Amino acid sequence: DMMKDLLGLRELEKKLEADLGVKKVIVVAGNSDQDNWVKREMGRACISELKRIIEPEDVVAVMGGTTLAAVAEMMQPDPKIKKAVFVPARGGLGEQVENQANTISAELASRAGAQYRLLHVPDQISEEAYSSLVLEPSVKDILKLIQSACTVIHGIGDAKTMAKRRDSVNSFIDKLNREEAVAEAFGYYFNRSGELIHKQRTIGLQLDDLGEHKSVISVAGGSSKAEAIAAYMKYRPSDVLITDEAAAESLLNIR
Ligand code: G3H
Repeated sequence: DMMKDLLGLRELEKKLEADLGVKKVIVVAGNSDQDNWVKREMGRACISELKRIIEPEDVVAVMGGTTLAAVAEMMQPDPKIKKAVFVPARGGLGEQVENQANTISAELASRAGAQYRLLHVPDQISEEAYSSLVLEPSVKDILKLIQSACTVIHGIGDAKTMAKRRDSVNSFIDKLNREEAVAEAFGYYFNRSGELIHKQRTIGLQLDDLGEHKSVISVAGGSSKAEAIAAYMKYRPSDVLITDEAAAESLLNIR
């Protein structure tokens, strides 16, 4: 029955908080590998968490992906969120437009009745172009705003799935195999021990910017992501992890 199911989810949350060293874990019912509505349930949980922690005029930085797109879908007009500014956490990573951080940030803002700012950076950019781009006054302005974000919301992906989806070259996929990459987040790739093995060059938040003062909400579910979630949480345990039952159960099995 429903009460028993809820107790089961609460129990999974407590176990995961202890296991992963994450302050707060929220587990929703289902498996997002199988059912798309589960992503929207994680999205709903993410929006209520955001409402709980947000302060007026906060800057909220968001990443891309299909899970974050589902988070944006669940946003509703909100007086508390209305004064916030949404920004993409990082520049282009080779995603389709609906899964890009820029799109998701604009969508969240327009549904909430809040402000947003875009960050225009080509996906594949040379070292030289990159160094001159960050000196552009308009880019500098938005980068400052991004750095000032109090809250960061991001997804976590399986390394190989993400590399393929972003049309990575074969030599890169070989490198990920060789170095046993299992997780991707923010355009960074990690091995099972949570060690960083590759950084995708783009401007915006760098991993080092995710200091103590930023509140990081990770949203990732589906049993196929259990290993990726475990690996990323070893690198930096998030302040809040929103996941689903299938991922939660697999996570407890790999430990
Ligand atoms: O950056 C994207 C995430 O790592 C995962 O994407 O939500 O579409 O699985 P996803």
